[in-house]
Amino acid sequence: MENTEQKKRILSGIQPSGDLTLGSYLGAIKNWASLADEYDCYYMLADMHTITVRQVPADLRRRTLTQVAAYIASGLDPEKNTLFVQSHVPAHAQLGWVLDCYTMFGELSRMTQFKDKSAKNADNINAGLFTYPALMAADILLYQADLVPVGGDQKQHVEICRDIATRFNGVYGDVFKIPEPYIPKVGARVMSLSSPENKMSKSDKDPNGCVYMLEKPEDIMRKFKKAMTDSEACVRFDPENKPGVSNLMQIYSVATGSSFEAIEAEFAGRGYGDFKKAVGESVVELLRPIREETERLLADKAYLESVYRAGAEKASYVANRTLSKVYKKVGFLAR
Ligand code: TRP
Repeated sequence: MENTEQKKRILSGIQPSGDLTLGSYLGAIKNWASLADEYDCYYMLADMHTITVRQVPADLRRRTLTQVAAYIASGLDPEKNTLFVQSHVPAHAQLGWVLDCYTMFGELSRMTQFKDKSAKNADNINAGLFTYPALMAADILLYQADLVPVGGDQKQHVEICRDIATRFNGVYGDVFKIPEPYIPKVGARVMSLSSPENKMSKSDKDPNGCVYMLEKPEDIMRKFKKAMTDSEACVRFDPENKPGVSNLMQIYSVATGSSFEAIEAEFAGRGYGDFKKAVGESVVELLRPIREETERLLADKAYLESVYRAGAEKASYVANRTLSKVYKKVGFLAR
């Protein structure tokens, strides 16, 4: 374990709050898989964050296990990456509480995600939803992570994590490494197929806006055929004026490796019908091996269990070292 210590450490996580999307894959997981040699990587399934919104227990359990399988099927080798479930490592809740006491009501009130989510869940604006960023700070700081790969919507949470860590260090000395957000050089921000000015999201109200990683080919094709374009009938990259077409180009480019110029040339003089079909097919082929491997892994529960158990053990070891330091610093009597 100590020999990985020179590598910079990465931590990130996705909530098993809905089925993984093409956006989760292209925007996050696919890039994670390429970081394993250069960094010491920890990827978490943030199930504790998920219950800030009411869940159906059996669904949460199923999605969590499926997400472990999908991580592996996407190329996250469990021998090279630490894959774990947040609730399996009690230190998250433990440090989360301590950090609650070093996080200000005012700064939590300014979090845009809290404002959005409380507007959407007006009947359940619970304290967990409010203090969520302190738990996320614990997730990151427990591992002394150098870098946190996140999408734009989570940057504010990495910022508050840095503020909390700096505040704590200011009182007690250098306890926490101050993490940086990490926006991968390559990687796509995949937008909704039906409202391309919004990010593709598992909570999209329009089911046609979002393609799931494990979705059946015919459903994927149907969604791409319905994708929103424009009336110009020209495949050209112009996110400002042609958000729908540009999003499809972005997806096609990542799925096939073609440049935007090559895509423009390929579809010059052809209608959007052909283009959308080609994008759909490229996504079907991109996701096919991942879906098949996920299904294969889900049939091998013992293997999946061995992966998340080993992950929890390794994660706990690192997390508990930080937690002990923190407990000592704040003045808790050693047991
Ligand atoms: N809040 C993140 C999201 O909703 C998930 C998350 C939880 C996370 N803890 C994290 C991401 C720590 C990065 C690091 O997408």
